[in-house]
Amino acid sequence: MGAKPTKDFEHYFAAKPKVKPECMLIRAFLRGKSFKFLTASGVFSKKRIDLGTKLLIESMVLPDEGLILDIGCGYGAVGIVAASLKPKVKVIMTDINERAIWLTKRNIRLNRILNAEVRRGNLYNPVSKLTFNCILSNPPVSAGLSVVKEIVANAPQHMAEDATLQMVVKSKVGGERLKQVFTEAFGNVEILARGSGYRVLMSKKHDKAESQ
Ligand SMILES: C[S@@+](CC[C@H](N)C(=O)[O-])C[C@H]1O[C@@H](n2cnc3c(N)ncnc32)[C@H](O)[C@@H]1O
Repeated sequence: MGAKPTKDFEHYFAAKPKVKPECMLIRAFLRGKSFKFLTASGVFSKKRIDLGTKLLIESMVLPDEGLILDIGCGYGAVGIVAASLKPKVKVIMTDINERAIWLTKRNIRLNRILNAEVRRGNLYNPVSKLTFNCILSNPPVSAGLSVVKEIVANAPQHMAEDATLQMVVKSKVGGERLKQVFTEAFGNVEILARGSGYRVLMSKKHDKAESQ
């Protein structure tokens, strides 16, 4: 599925985008605060905060302490807002795209965030030894539903007890199927928010024995 890459077209999830990095600065008011983001060609949603991203940011439920992962962080909007709202939490943002990583580093500084860091790599590889209290994602659906399913299926092994996975998906692009994938992985799922054709799914990691 998805368009075939051609000379003029490149997916936003390319590891090393070849398209010339034309940068722009966008401003956004999220969760009652102002943020600035440097964006560029070759990354997801460079002109404005994506509507799905916005829905996730406005509805995400965050722990007061511990570790948060923003997997597939793009230029860092989700993780940076989370870090800004919860200064006692440490946020780790990961992406496969080196330009996204470069932009996120710049955006952490631009928004004077002290409790976040960025790591480049495939899915959970850069954080394989860590256990998170919350995992947030606007996943790379264009890379294929199998990648999104992998994020969900492998999430529990990177999560502490009572941690949550919160993911925004287009209701019509695998929304129902992903609800099942969440249920298979966690035994529970709820729709945290809906809007603009998107939904935010949330599952909580419980002790399997308890949830039976
Ligand atoms: C839909 S975009 C969301 C970006 C950002 N979270 C936002 O909401 O603006 C998905 C991101 O996942 C990244 N990605 C794609 N495949 C990946 C993989 N295998 N491992 C890590 N990140 C990946 C892409 O580079 C892209 O930045």
